Amino acid sequence: MPSQIRSYPDYTAHYTLAQQDPDAYWAEVAGRYHWFAPWQQVHTGGFLRADMQWFAGARTNLAYNCLDRHLPVLADHTAIIWESNDPREAPLHISFAQLYDQVNRMAHLLRSLGVQRGDRVCIYLPMIPEAAYAMLACARLGAIHSVVFGGFSATALADRIRDADCQLLITADATMRGNKAVPLKAIADEALLHCPGIRHCLVVQRAGIAVEMRTPRDLWYHEVLAGVPRDARVPAEEMNAEDPLFILYTSGSTGKPKGIVHTTGGYMVNAGHSFANVFQVQLQDIWWCTADVGWITGHTYLIYGPLLNGITTLMFEGVPTWPDAGRFWEVIDRHKVTLFYTAPTAIRALMAAGNTWVENKDLGSLRIIGSVGEPINIEAWEWYHTYVGKRRCPVLDTWWQTETGAIMISPMGGQPAHKPCFAALPLPGVEPVLMDPEGKEITWKPGDTIEGNLCIRNPWPGIARTTWGDHERFLNTYFTAYPGYYFTGDGCKRDAEGHYRILGRVDDVINVSGHRIGTAEVENAINEHPDIIESAVVGYPHDIKGQGIYAYVIVGKPGLPQEEIARTVNEVIVRLIGPIAKPDKLQLVTDLPKTRSGKIMRRILRKIAAGELDNMGDTSTLLDPGVVDAIIAGRQ
Ligand code: WT7
Repeated sequence: MPSQIRSYPDYTAHYTLAQQDPDAYWAEVAGRYHWFAPWQQVHTGGFLRADMQWFAGARTNLAYNCLDRHLPVLADHTAIIWESNDPREAPLHISFAQLYDQVNRMAHLLRSLGVQRGDRVCIYLPMIPEAAYAMLACARLGAIHSVVFGGFSATALADRIRDADCQLLITADATMRGNKAVPLKAIADEALLHCPGIRHCLVVQRAGIAVEMRTPRDLWYHEVLAGVPRDARVPAEEMNAEDPLFILYTSGSTGKPKGIVHTTGGYMVNAGHSFANVFQVQLQDIWWCTADVGWITGHTYLIYGPLLNGITTLMFEGVPTWPDAGRFWEVIDRHKVTLFYTAPTAIRALMAAGNTWVENKDLGSLRIIGSVGEPINIEAWEWYHTYVGKRRCPVLDTWWQTETGAIMISPMGGQPAHKPCFAALPLPGVEPVLMDPEGKEITWKPGDTIEGNLCIRNPWPGIARTTWGDHERFLNTYFTAYPGYYFTGDGCKRDAEGHYRILGRVDDVINVSGHRIGTAEVENAINEHPDIIESAVVGYPHDIKGQGIYAYVIVGKPGLPQEEIARTVNEVIVRLIGPIAKPDKLQLVTDLPKTRSGKIMRRILRKIAAGELDNMGDTSTLLDPGVVDAIIAGRQ
């Protein structure tokens, strides 16, 4: 087996071995990393009880593998290029040696604040190098990080801090996103009113705004860091492969967001291997993943994947459309980015801004461009391929999830001719299956075209191990609908040549600008509004965001104007979740289409929101079919 996948025959060799002898395959891949002690068994357990383990008995440290391991050769190689929100502020180039120093100093500091192996640390930081230092410092100490996206509200932050029982919070005074300031510390202060478990809040000075510092809880990072020796060294904890590395909250069809738990060894191997192969990385590459550290893409492909491979990763604080819609392309030219990875929603927004912003840029440094987070529509794919990739760079449509830890289905950079909008083929070790409505595998042979719910047959190293504090929920969410399989929540097509195309969620999860939002979560927030009795939220096709949020609400006091309700609903959502969950459309209704057993028929609400009004399907089980016409009449 060639050590890297560089061609289709290499891919086949890898795939075949991973299928025939997964333990041999993953042992060979894992052998490229540093382990303090070897594993007893490559892999045990399975999906029936969700008790999978990888490299059990082995000991390793992810920060050691991202930093220490590279120092002999890559000390002066750039690990992180940081590009400010403000194009006039000079970018930073942080070498592996400098990153190593910073991580050690941060680890030293965290340790002096009482953080120990297994403790939870919440990171609520913008896209600044300190976010990387903090994550790697936690990994070095064996503390479990829980990064919370900076767009989440105080309530959402507090929920996450409490659920994981974090004892330390790392945040910043504020950050600029375009010309908008996000006052992170003020939001954190509000959250911390409800988080007695937090002993210290470490505050990075970024924007230079005045904030309230509560002693002895709050500490300025730069002040306490001044007390840490420049050459402070903290030994990398020898973590068990199955020790949790991080928790990351994500939305599902029901209830509150759940803390997805990833473990050390399997995640490391999968993150490093998928990054190297999908993007065909070479040491001189400049890699730019535009995802925020607060999402899984930011964990696996902004921080861990590239650093594990000794690759320069670019971190951008700003937004694609500020100061103008040429910013991404300017950054690519400025830093000679070779590999670029972004989301369809950004591509659509930049496409809508017009071609002039991209046409006058060189973009000659680019070699491969990727897409992630949501289904990419054909227009966006073609535009990306033509204007950004100049019809020269392969476009990789990569499918994966918070739960999968790493890319699962994707074209590989070394292979020619990718079909637009197809995620193409599974990575080695990944066996996708499509299920029919009865829960049976749909068989496929060359020439067949099939469609069904996407499941994965066997565990791979990077799969999440549990949801924090609630293994039962983990089992029920992913492993009960199809016993023995992992259920992804996505619908999928497989074409005559065996290529996969992801169709999007089949559950009550909506994907707004690549952000995953649970309809139940939004409804629960809306129902907190004092004038609202009940609500139902669905997704509908949106030109830029992919999906928009459509909310149907029943108001208690008749006569309240629609704009007033919409405005106050937005306030409630921003307070309880964050601006990303604000409804794009809101309709006041007097009733919702319910079955006799009281279940809301979302299928109908989805059709109305999408404007598919000609055929509502079978409405005979509705308690009052007349409700449907009334809702259609008031459609937004
Ligand atoms: C959901 C997972 C890990 C990537 C960031 C999002 C959708 C993701 C694709 C793609 C079509 C995609 C799926 C998936 N999705 N990538 N290439 N094509 N859909 O991670 O927040 O956990 O969301 O994003 O619906 O289930 P996430």
